[in-house]
Amino acid sequence: MSLGTWQLRGGAARRGVEEALALGYRCVDTATGYGNEREVGAGIRASGIERADLLLVTKFPEEDAGRERETLLRSLDLLGVDRLDLWLVHGPLDADGSLAVWERFIEAREGGLVRAIGVSNFRTDQVDDLAARSGVVPAVNQIAFGPRRFDPALVRHHAALGTVVQGHSPFSENDLGHPVLKSVAARLGRSVHQVLLGWHLAHGVPAVAKAASAARLAENLSVRGSALTAAEVAALDRIADDAGTGAPR
Ligand SMILES: NC(=O)c1ccc[n+]([C@@H]2O[C@H](COP(=O)([O-])OP(=O)(O)OC[C@H]3O[C@@H](n4cnc5c(N)ncnc54)[C@H](OP(=O)(O)O)[C@@H]3O)[C@@H](O)[C@H]2O)c1
Repeated sequence: MSLGTWQLRGGAARRGVEEALALGYRCVDTATGYGNEREVGAGIRASGIERADLLLVTKFPEEDAGRERETLLRSLDLLGVDRLDLWLVHGPLDADGSLAVWERFIEAREGGLVRAIGVSNFRTDQVDDLAARSGVVPAVNQIAFGPRRFDPALVRHHAALGTVVQGHSPFSENDLGHPVLKSVAARLGRSVHQVLLGWHLAHGVPAVAKAASAARLAENLSVRGSALTAAEVAALDRIADDAGTGAPR
């Protein structure tokens, strides 16, 4: 699971990253738009964790199209690293606009400034279009995900293409008071947050979750031991259908 850092600013961002890495998080998610890359970098250095043991992800604001290299160099400088593990286009433009940005992303990868490149908040058809027109499949599509939005066709489609779906906002984009979620949590003796993260694990979708306190960071990380039954996963899958918030199947 990744540590989300949206809305973490200043000292809270530095401390949050340091604390999370001390607890065992090894993937950190930020973005140019979050305005915290300097503090995220400081937190990483303060943790003493080897750079090679971390996955560091940042995102390019699509509205900065045309300034890709300059923005990337600034992200690297603020983060205090010479390479990113994953650089994402934060959101789609029109098809030609996304392709032009993507071509600069491909150059950045070929130049060794980033290990992998991907997108965020792209619809499936937009991922397809980018892959077909550029010949380079995005490694990741980071999208809002969870039982309320579950769309098995979307997950299958990305898997067939070779794009990992990464789920952002596992709590804020879901209904924490849903009775099915609450009953699974009660059976397991776990929090609804842990059940949601367990559901992501069951679907092979890595979650990006934010928490401000050490206790919550630890609670979210300990989800690895909370196995849901297949019936519970299926019941959670149906939340989107019941709420009418899922995609048509
Ligand atoms: N690509 C994109 O466009 C995009 C969009 C949105 C988010 N993201 C990424 O995804 C990350 C997560 O999304 P998010 O920040 O929207 O929301 P989230 O992780 O779904 O939810 C965060 C909220 O849940 C609370 N929380 C976390 N763990 C908890 C626990 N165990 N018990 C009780 N409350 C808990 C947090 O409270 P406290 O903070 O008070 O602890 C915070 O209010 C972001 O930080 C960002 O890195 C990406």
